[in-house]
Amino acid sequence: MFASLSLGLALLPFVVSTTIDVQVGGPNGTLVFSPTAVSANVGDQVVFHFNPKNHSVFQSSFADPCGLKDGGFASPFFPVAANSSVDTRPTYSVTVNDTSPIWVFCDQAANTPASHCGQGMVFAINCPSDDSPNSLGNFQKAALAVGASLSAAAASASATPTGDSGSPTLTAAYGGVTLPPVPSATVVTAEITLDSSSIWTTVYTSFVNSPAATPAAANGAVHTVVVGGTNKIFFDPANITANPRDQIVFQFQQKNHSVVQSSFADPCRPLNAGNASAPQGFNSGFFPVDANQTDNFPTYTITVNDTVPLWMYCAQRTPVSHCGEGMVFSVNAVDNSTRNFAAFQSVAEALNGTGAASASAPASSQTTGGALSLRVGGGAGVVMAIIAVAASLL
Ligand SMILES: *[C@@H]1O[C@H](CO)[C@@H](O)[C@H](O)[C@H]1NC(C)=O
Ligand SMILES: *[C@@H]1O[C@H](CO)[C@@H](O)[C@H](O)[C@H]1NC(C)=O
Ligand SMILES: *[C@@H]1O[C@H](CO)[C@@H](O)[C@H](O)[C@H]1NC(C)=O
Ligand SMILES: *[C@@H]1O[C@H](CO)[C@@H](O)[C@H](O)[C@H]1NC(C)=O
Ligand SMILES: *[C@@H]1O[C@H](CO)[C@@H](O)[C@H](O)[C@H]1NC(C)=O
Ligand SMILES: *[C@@H]1O[C@H](CO)[C@@H](O)[C@H](O)[C@H]1NC(C)=O
Ligand SMILES: *[C@@H]1O[C@H](CO)[C@@H](O)[C@H](O)[C@H]1NC(C)=O
Ligand SMILES: *[C@@H]1O[C@H](CO)[C@@H](O)[C@H](O)[C@H]1NC(C)=O
Ligand SMILES: *[C@@H]1O[C@H](CO)[C@@H](O)[C@H](O)[C@H]1NC(C)=O
Ligand SMILES: *[C@@H]1O[C@H](CO)[C@@H](O)[C@H](O)[C@H]1NC(C)=O
Ligand SMILES: *[C@@H]1O[C@H](CO)[C@@H](O)[C@H](O)[C@H]1NC(C)=O
Repeated sequence: MFASLSLGLALLPFVVSTTIDVQVGGPNGTLVFSPTAVSANVGDQVVFHFNPKNHSVFQSSFADPCGLKDGGFASPFFPVAANSSVDTRPTYSVTVNDTSPIWVFCDQAANTPASHCGQGMVFAINCPSDDSPNSLGNFQKAALAVGASLSAAAASASATPTGDSGSPTLTAAYGGVTLPPVPSATVVTAEITLDSSSIWTTVYTSFVNSPAATPAAANGAVHTVVVGGTNKIFFDPANITANPRDQIVFQFQQKNHSVVQSSFADPCRPLNAGNASAPQGFNSGFFPVDANQTDNFPTYTITVNDTVPLWMYCAQRTPVSHCGEGMVFSVNAVDNSTRNFAAFQSVAEALNGTGAASASAPASSQTTGGALSLRVGGGAGVVMAIIAVAASLL
């Protein structure tokens, strides 16, 4: 018995794992891991300590330094206040299961010029030596190259459409309407201080004259927008500026309106109509309101997350297209740009107004399943029948 106990104790040192601490983000908010590489034995734990800003720890591969590896680990994002005390900061642990290299990056602002990985914020466990082709130095160079190409792509994307006479012709999704050029956007990384306890880093898209990204309050401000009303086929106000975290409360008044997110180039159809793999926008549905109703109007609320313009319309088409009548709405459209609210409204009127060319939407817009509503007269009143129509039948 004693013999087997002492044998167990003797083996223990080979079983106990070591904890290796790594700082994510420099003490001054710099985009670094510290140390930049460690070597670890099988069974060791690498504990990542998250410093101020909003970082993450994702596993990648040498060949694709800023992309999540298939089946690789991915920590959450940890927004850390600039003056939070060190012992309250979050950590994330990774267990080393074998001795092959583990490549790591911060995924903040992925695919934008502000990408942390693209600015060299990478890390490695058990990487090959410095003279190997797969060295940490070469891994970091590859990450910086990703960042450089993202910056170049953003610069050329914002330069191309803003040219005046030489700019490419931009045409609406249907109807052969020519669109004004796209104002150039920049991706901004900013540190937001709201009150002593909330300081965080945010990344957002901004245009010249966009409102500041700083929320007015932790819960944002509330903007009320009246939708319709007696003899009113418009949003009131029709365009507003709002900060991130603000709420927009749509109050539905007389008639039967809705608010649906669209895009500048395609104002009277849902965002990314016909492309189910692209992000879909919000849609309030219809709110029928009696002519004699005076209070308790139904509402629908959206939250503003960015300063990038939001475009919306009322989808009512009976008896006329409200969108084609100019019943559209924008948030954070820049007033002195080529794509301001007035320009948006005239695209809507040109495409869906009574004077619109009879050109219809491209086939792609009809590939999503829809719902047809039929009004059937019945003895007791009006019976609604909602008939789902499969995409293949359209
Ligand atoms: C913070 O940044 C300043 C200026 O770049 C530098 O002098 C200082 O050493 C940094 N502090 C730490 C803790 O890295
Ligand atoms: C090690 O294995 C554990 C359990 O399967 C897993 O959760 C962890 O992500 C693995 N570590 C690495 C670095 O792949
Ligand atoms: C953060 O700094 C502010 C002053 O800038 C201070 O009022 C607040 O107490 C600090 N918070 C923490 C957690 O230290
Ligand atoms: C932290 O970053 C992630 C990813 O960019 C983002 O989704 C999240 O909103 C950020 N958190 C804060 C508090 O800014
Ligand atoms: C409201 O408008 C929608 C879309 O035209 C229609 O399907 C619905 O029947 C209308 N509701 C009422 C009560 O008129
Ligand atoms: C649909 O959206 C995806 C993702 O945004 C995009 O890659 C694709 O090109 C779009 N397809 C069409 C036909 O526009
Ligand atoms: C509105 O008028 C209808 C009849 O047209 C009536 O049934 C309903 O009670 C009225 N509602 C209000 C709020 O006055
Ligand atoms: C803002 O973000 C929330 C949560 O991700 C989302 O539900 C909402 O639709 C976004 N708002 C807009 C206007 O896209
Ligand atoms: C605008 O016109 C297009 C093409 O005819 C149609 O698909 C769309 O539903 C119309 N939208 C509105 C709100 O009238
Ligand atoms: C809009 O106004 C801002 C500030 O007044 C100015 O910097 C910007 O150049 C203007 N944009 C255009 C397209 O005139
Ligand atoms: C958009 O809103 C701004 C600010 O409220 C206002 O000055 C401008 O006239 C509006 N534009 C249109 C076309 O209604």
